Amino acid sequence: MYKLLIKYTKDGWWAAILGPLFVILEVVFDTIIPYLMSLIIDTGITQRGGDIDYIVRVGGMMVVCAILAGITGALSGVFASIASCRFIRNVRTAIMEKIQTYDFRNIEKFPVPTIVMRTTTDMRMLRMAYVSIVRMLVRTPLNIIMSAYMAIKLNKSLAAIFVVVIPVLGTGLALMIILSRPRFIAMMHRFDDLNGQLKENIEDIRVVKSFVREEHEKEKFSLVSWMVTKAQRYAETMVIYDDAFFQFVMYACMIAVCWIGGNHIITGSMTSGAFMSFLAYLKAILMSLMGVSMGIMQVVMANASVSRANEVLSEIPDIDDSNADPELQVENGNIEFRNVSFKYSKHAEKNTLSDININIRSGEVIGILGPTGGGKSTFAQLIDRLYEISEGEILVGGHNIKEYKLHNLREAVSMVLQKNTLFSGTIEENMKWGNPEATHEEAVEACRIAQADDFIMSFPKQYESELGQGGSNVSGGQKQRLCIARALLKKPKIIILDDSTSAVDTDTDHRIQLALKEKLGNMTTIIIAQRVSSVKEANRIIIMNEGKIEDIGSHDELLERNTVYRDLYETQMKGVQE
Ligand SMILES: Nc1ncnc2c1ncn2[C@@H]1O[C@H](COP(=O)(O)OP(=O)(O)OP(=O)(O)O)[C@@H](O)[C@H]1O
Ligand SMILES: [Mg+2]
Repeated sequence: MYKLLIKYTKDGWWAAILGPLFVILEVVFDTIIPYLMSLIIDTGITQRGGDIDYIVRVGGMMVVCAILAGITGALSGVFASIASCRFIRNVRTAIMEKIQTYDFRNIEKFPVPTIVMRTTTDMRMLRMAYVSIVRMLVRTPLNIIMSAYMAIKLNKSLAAIFVVVIPVLGTGLALMIILSRPRFIAMMHRFDDLNGQLKENIEDIRVVKSFVREEHEKEKFSLVSWMVTKAQRYAETMVIYDDAFFQFVMYACMIAVCWIGGNHIITGSMTSGAFMSFLAYLKAILMSLMGVSMGIMQVVMANASVSRANEVLSEIPDIDDSNADPELQVENGNIEFRNVSFKYSKHAEKNTLSDININIRSGEVIGILGPTGGGKSTFAQLIDRLYEISEGEILVGGHNIKEYKLHNLREAVSMVLQKNTLFSGTIEENMKWGNPEATHEEAVEACRIAQADDFIMSFPKQYESELGQGGSNVSGGQKQRLCIARALLKKPKIIILDDSTSAVDTDTDHRIQLALKEKLGNMTTIIIAQRVSSVKEANRIIIMNEGKIEDIGSHDELLERNTVYRDLYETQMKGVQE
């Protein structure tokens, strides 16, 4: 935890130093006050028989000390707050920057709800603990030492009580820490579940409603919610026990001191002023110890959060391009797969793709057909290096994809993912999202090729029309066409359309294919589809099944030699003719 603190305090270092510095001053003034009080009682009242002058003078000093203690305390709080806010901002930014380096496999490991939780609630816990540490680490030990010194000076035998109290409290605290840590970690995980449930429920509310599953979702949510309550109660009981235990020890201690101190006063070995100051110091020590215990509890809670933040920060992306040449750019759209095999999990027995060998020339249009789960999307995602292959080599533009910086590779390979999304904002903003330098004319041209221009122009605000979150206010087919246009605007060397026209009618689909071929002749195009008609115009069509390439050929060749293809074509054509 402390490593993280030091690493991310960065620009808040001055506040992190000033905070504790003012705490030291606060403690000094706090400790002087009871001593001045004992002077008033013992010297001013008892010895000098009510010397008003003296009492007023010392009383005045007490007031000044109290004011200074207040001011320094407040300042320490302000600096601790500045330091903690900056610290959390730095950790949060580091998490976000780290996530940007993640590859698809890492993203699958940390789903959205847990990331949201880790950058919000966990960070709040951490901030509270940070303030505690900045103040507590300095304040309490110093307070204890100074108060104990003053108490010993006042009465040695009475101070012996600390020898008993401190180890008892220490053991109690240690026990609490050991027991509560796993409970807090479990509690945070339940919160992750709650977040996940909430996200699914809200994001997919349309599906829930269309299936009339509100009651079912409510039940599911209340179950998760109940689990959170249980975990929270289970974890927080420890805090309550801790508190009760401290109260008990504190009052037992007070009673013992009153008892022993009372006897001292009776026998005359202690003045009543000294006794009152002693009580004040004892209270300061016990309160400090209580503060330590609360602070440590907070640190324990935050520790769970630190581990969770560290998990995200220390995740190593599979895909490393640090040794790649930043100058190397993709020169053309050639793609070559040499004996490529791939599996999603290192521990999986079977390969998702095996022994893929293919050579695609720049400017070729390639269609990919095959049953669902056949490995089409997987194949396409490897070209962009969204996953790291297990065996073999992939070459793009004549170089192994590992030789390119990811940025350079992905700039040249534009991919319309099967599950694609648009962002809230205008259509024009969405188009330029992949290429901010593009002009309006270029955006219009891309939309024309993707057959999106017509429907955009029919909107009242045309290219300035606002899209809902995720493109929720356009139809499925319109959204697909906007996604294709956005990918085209990047002016890539290779474009991959993964099932990107599935919701587009056959006629428009055909027009998109023709426009792609006509206008972007030197761009390699890979079209993954379920309909034969979507790939009919391709130079070559790959038939993929069970992670292998079964056949490659033009439409006419496949129609002649591949029975599966012929059957598929005939069934689909029949469907169209009927
Ligand atoms: N992220 C993933 N993690 C683990 N396994 C996956 C993942 N994505 C896909 N798979 C598995 O890999 C296999 C190939 O999936 P892929 O998505 O490539 O199929 P596809 O041919 O694109 O299918 P579809 O036509 O339905 O889109 C499937 O068995 C699938 O279950
Ligand atoms: Mg797919």
